[in-house]
Parts: sequence; C-alpha cells; structure tokens
Amino acid sequence: MGRLTKGTRWMVLSAAAATFSIAGVFVAGSAARAADAPANPEGVKLFEAKIRPILAQNCVGCHGPDKQKGKLRMDTREALLKGGMDEEKVVKVIEPGDPAKSMIIEAVNYKNEDIQMPPPKKKESRKLSDEQIKDLTEWVKLGAPYGEKPVEAPPKAADEK
Ligand code: HEC
Repeated sequence: MGRLTKGTRWMVLSAAAATFSIAGVFVAGSAARAADAPANPEGVKLFEAKIRPILAQNCVGCHGPDKQKGKLRMDTREALLKGGMDEEKVVKVIEPGDPAKSMIIEAVNYKNEDIQMPPPKKKESRKLSDEQIKDLTEWVKLGAPYGEKPVEAPPKAADEK
C-alpha cells in the first residue's frame, strides 16, 4: 500500500466498500425472501397436502375472515405473521423456522393450560392427533409457507353457527 498514491488508495477502499455493500444487499435480500415468500417447494407441498386441511377444519372457523378470536387470523401467511392481540398488545404467534418459539405449536400441544388450541369444548379435549401436530411442527420448521389461495373453513352446518 505504501506506494499507492492517495487517489488509488481511495479507489481500493471504495471498491472494498462496494463489495461489502453488495454482499450486504445480497444477505439482506435472501433473509427478506425467507421471511415473506420462501422459495420452498417442499414446504408448500406439505402445506397443500397436510396443513391447509388442518387449518381449514380446526382453526380458520375461529381465526379467519368471519371470526378473529384473540384478534388472530390464520387464513393467510401474512395474517399469521401479524399475530393476534391481547388488549392493546400484539401477540406474536409464530417464529417461522423455530417451532419451539412458536405459540401455535405450544397451543396445539396442549401442554400449557392457558393456551390450548383448538380449545376444549365443554371440558372435552379437542387436541389434534399426534400426526397432525407433527406435520404442523415440521411445517413451521420449514418456514410456514402457504400456497397461493387463502385457507377457507368448510361451510358450517346451520346448528353450529
Ligand atoms: C372454537 C374457536 C377456536 C378455534 C377452533 C381455535 N381457536 Fe385459537 N383462540 C380462540 C380464542 C377464543 C382465543 C383467545 C382467547 C384465548 O387466549 O383463549 C384464541 C387464541 C389463539 C391464539 C393466541 C392469540 C392471541 O391473540 O391471544 C393462538 C396462537 C391460537 N388461538 C391458535 C389456534 C390454532 C393454531 C388453532 C387451530 C389448531 C385454533 N387457535 C383454533 C378460539 C379458537
């Protein structure tokens, strides 16, 4: 470096800075992609085969377009990431990639009496099957991707409304 003129040294430094910032944009870009719509064919396949029906039949009736218990909607990924509300406080319900930090996984496991989902009805447990819980856990681990269409609850029988 000793023999470089001032001008050249500046160029070397700015080239290094440019390299860092390009790398930075690249890293930030891929993190952002992982957060919104992961290019994750395996996860989307699991979603369509297993997760959509679980959410449709067990969650979206209370956490969807018609009702938002706990101010939470689960019919789209965006809504799920937004979370619920407890009074004025946002309740984060999922940490994509980390089931152990995801309230939805805690809730379906029925381990914490304060949050059991789907909620017991007349004291009777409505806990999902081990297989369904395993699939949900795997899906969260894969980043919880959704498919293109929102999750729709099946139409309810009139007496259930
Ligand atoms: C029969 C209606 C009903 C169904 C079905 C249901 N929930 Fe809930 N859920 C609630 C109610 C009511 C609350 C808010 C009160 C509470 O915390 O118990 C809630 C709250 C939650 C919360 C906390 C969010 C917040 O803002 O407090 C999570 C997470 C959740 N539900 C996940 C689920 C999942 C996952 C399913 C499907 C497996 C599901 N729920 C199915 C009624 C339901």
